[in-house]
Amino acid sequence: MAAIEVRPLTKHIGARMTGVDLREPLMPDQVAAVERAMDAHAVLVLPGQDITDEQQLAFTRNFGPLEEGANSGARDAELRLPVVFADVSNLDKEGRIAARDNKKRMAALGNRLWHSDASFRATPARYSILSGRVVTTDGGNTEFADMRAAYDALDDATKAEIEDLVCEHSLIYSRGQLGFSDFLPDERVAMTPVRQRLVRTHPVTGRKSLFLAAHIGTIVGWPQPEAMAFIRDLMEHATQPQFVYVHRWAQHDLVMWDNRTTMHRVRRFDDLHVVRDMRRTTTRSEGPTAPQP
Ligand code: OGA
Ligand code: MN
Repeated sequence: MAAIEVRPLTKHIGARMTGVDLREPLMPDQVAAVERAMDAHAVLVLPGQDITDEQQLAFTRNFGPLEEGANSGARDAELRLPVVFADVSNLDKEGRIAARDNKKRMAALGNRLWHSDASFRATPARYSILSGRVVTTDGGNTEFADMRAAYDALDDATKAEIEDLVCEHSLIYSRGQLGFSDFLPDERVAMTPVRQRLVRTHPVTGRKSLFLAAHIGTIVGWPQPEAMAFIRDLMEHATQPQFVYVHRWAQHDLVMWDNRTTMHRVRRFDDLHVVRDMRRTTTRSEGPTAPQP
């Protein structure tokens, strides 16, 4: 078995991991090594992982229960991939580049906003595992921001002020930021806001981090405009270059991140002409970060 190597990519966030082959089942010590590296670096890049959907699922199952139905709102018949995958490609269900007004494309544009996956679910995501099956090199970078380093860099007064704040998260808010409001009545029900703490503590490292996302629509007990102006300030603070790792994709990269301690976004590319086939599997975190109403 090859020795695992972990090389940090920036001062705070991201590392490149080599010496694991995801086409084979992982040994318990390899699973532990991945978790240790995730706890330390929050984002891992595993290059050269030419895997099948089944191999991606088998790898993902090492890290807790799967988060299903990530393509929120889509009917099964509209899906290109099994429901345990988030189809982050620009392809429609027939595998062709999605048309400009395709509804899935509209929803996917939300990934251009800084977010944490499934923060709009009462039990949000733990790890996201994104496999680059067909990548783009001209645009389509994925950027990651370190919410632990961002929290640490706040002044003490702000830390004290936000310690017990609770936010409401919903896809309605993130999509609404882009002017996307074409929802069916049952989709609206599925997007009922959930509550999440603004400051969370990592269960293993004990480090505090900001739990921010474009899905936030208000802070409980605050007037909404005041809440959103403050959330914008925090977002701006948390996504400064010193907290960010920019990933430029190579074919068969597998990138995984801890949604409890990071935000991410994808950058624009020529998605009406160039194929980008990215497939995400996701595991669930321990449970809600705050009581639900
Ligand atoms: C995701 C996501 C970014 C990308 O998979 O959760 O936001 O680079 N994707 O496609
Ligand atoms: Mn995402």
